[in-house]
Amino acid sequence: MHNIGGYFELEQPKVAMWQRPELHRLTSGRACLTAILQHLNPKRAYVPHYCCDSVLLPFEQLGIELCFYPIDQQFIPCKLPSLKTGDVFLWINYFGICSDVKEQLIERYCPEQLIIDDTHNLFGFEPSRHYAFSSLRKYFGIPDGALLCAPAAQIYPAPASARSIKHNELRAAGFTQQGYELYKQHEQSFDCTVSEMLPLSQQLLKQVDMLSVQLTRQRNFDYLHQRLGQYNQLDLPSRPVSPFCYPLLADKAIDRAELSRKGLFVPALWSDVETRNQDVPATELHLAQHLVPLPIDHRYDEQQMAVLATAVEQLLQT
Ligand SMILES: Cc1ncc(COP(=O)(O)O)c(C=O)c1O
Repeated sequence: MHNIGGYFELEQPKVAMWQRPELHRLTSGRACLTAILQHLNPKRAYVPHYCCDSVLLPFEQLGIELCFYPIDQQFIPCKLPSLKTGDVFLWINYFGICSDVKEQLIERYCPEQLIIDDTHNLFGFEPSRHYAFSSLRKYFGIPDGALLCAPAAQIYPAPASARSIKHNELRAAGFTQQGYELYKQHEQSFDCTVSEMLPLSQQLLKQVDMLSVQLTRQRNFDYLHQRLGQYNQLDLPSRPVSPFCYPLLADKAIDRAELSRKGLFVPALWSDVETRNQDVPATELHLAQHLVPLPIDHRYDEQQMAVLATAVEQLLQT
């Protein structure tokens, strides 16, 4: 039994989530997924239609049969399959707002048959008895980085390979457009090799005030929800632990090019869905074409969120 109260013990440094010894620090989400699949060695995988091609790459490279499953407009799998021996189920915690579904999946499937993609749920990600990963590069200006939870697996990653940070340097020097071209090349350089996170990325992460990053994301999410919630067809939780963006699905298409002309950059998640050689269900096509993931990260405060919300409102009202 632990005593409660009494005199203070020596202070212990609080280990940041990404430094937790139970987690493996690898180079990318793809590397984490590959390491999980190499360990579980499934024959067949259930994967969602609504995802990017980089999620599918590890399965394809390992010759694992893919069985695509549909989700509804609240990102919930329409039907949970009965898994046979040799099957795994890949689930994505979309935008960090689906953690309730995670609980149901954990109840339903054994840990060796469930792979949790918490790429969008970094601050809700923690060591557990489940196979899970999250990609750090999507949150910070670091050259690489991902966290892998693989409780029963022996992972022997290759040493980190050098990566250029020229795009970050150019951006810091004000050459954003030139940096963007290099950034795209940098993103193309990721493959499924299971290698370690670069020491530079780990060093840079030590300088980040993680709590402040998380709180800023939550605050920005709340602000955009107050301003734009009336237009949003998604049923969003009021205070998600780790929102990745503010996902907005309005009944009217939002012209991303028009936003970009105003210097407001919103990615398309995921154009791969539209071009994939599959019978993609209407819901997933609609999400891929119309959902706009508005940025809410720690670079922005309420003032910038107000500019973004106003620009989106203008587009919705015209
Ligand atoms: C939901 C999701 N999971 C995994 C990945 C792959 O992560 P990485 O680019 O670090 O390999 C991505 C990439 O965009 C993603 O969107």
